[in-house]
Amino acid sequence: MGSQLLSTVERREVLPESYIRPESDRPRLAEVTTDSNVPLIDLASPDKQRVIAEIGLACRTYGFFQVINHGIEGELLEKMMAVGLQFFRLPPEEKEKLYSDEPSKKIRLSTSFNVRKETVHNWRDYLRLHCHPLEEFLPEWPSNPESFKEIVSEYCREVRRLGLRLLGMISLSLGLEEDYIEKALGEQEQHMAVNYYPQCPEPELTYGLPKHTDPNALTVLLQDPNVAGLQVLKDGSRWIAVNPRPNAFVINLGDQLQALSNGAYKSVWHRAVVNAAQERMSVASFLCPCNSAVISPAAGLVRDGDAPVYRSYTYDEYYSKFWSRNLDQEHCLELFRC
Ligand code: SIN
Ligand code: FE2
Repeated sequence: MGSQLLSTVERREVLPESYIRPESDRPRLAEVTTDSNVPLIDLASPDKQRVIAEIGLACRTYGFFQVINHGIEGELLEKMMAVGLQFFRLPPEEKEKLYSDEPSKKIRLSTSFNVRKETVHNWRDYLRLHCHPLEEFLPEWPSNPESFKEIVSEYCREVRRLGLRLLGMISLSLGLEEDYIEKALGEQEQHMAVNYYPQCPEPELTYGLPKHTDPNALTVLLQDPNVAGLQVLKDGSRWIAVNPRPNAFVINLGDQLQALSNGAYKSVWHRAVVNAAQERMSVASFLCPCNSAVISPAAGLVRDGDAPVYRSYTYDEYYSKFWSRNLDQEHCLELFRC
């Protein structure tokens, strides 16, 4: 039997039944609002203290923010998107070679989220790549399209640099040493998901990705500049659309930063919705602790006499727990509360 890749099939007129969510769990797109106050942070601003304070406020109140003037050339972002799209336009037989639904595989093309676990599928195909150390994984990456390795490896290097810089600023915003988080995470792994959401005949009935939090430390997301789809849960109650901004990245905190900050910063619920008019792409880069890193709330953030909010655990333990569940169950970190 072939894979269930969406991108190998011509446009569909009706949504196959296995993608239809129950009535109680649909995106209700008409109720989603656009919030014009979504934090936007200019990393080139000369007032560094102010930038750090803005990051701190965004992490406390939204759990995510957008960055502009981040030092990565707009041309590279365009090339990354273009080569990603070219990849999904490859002939079916070329893509089938890379298909796997085994989550532990470090280089794979897959569909939905975790087809082995879920009961309803998601309207998404994705190419998942481990990206650090690059030399280790590069030989296994797709070599079609021809420019794929060159463009994507440059993109990964630049995104890593940006991500580590942001972790430094996030540490400072918590009142910790600049290198506190980087040290706590160990030699960080880096993964990426190049997401492809085809046009969907019935976008009200399904998701590209249902609500989830990211299990890693920090996510650097490049959105399709022309098509909206990312939505974030604000104050635990209302979905807001984070519309794409040219040359910006969306940064969201993963579960590990919520744990390290003892719950002061939030790894927020977010989701991707699909639409009938256009296909959409996004490229998510994940900075992850090394597997053996022991994650626990920073001592300086636990008030004297209080117990920490979360117990210590290894990232290995966390990550296996995350993948053994369904994406939209309770926040995985709840299982690690003291
Ligand atoms: C993600 O949450 O990993 C992707 C969100 C998006 O496609 O915008
Ligand atoms: Fe995510």
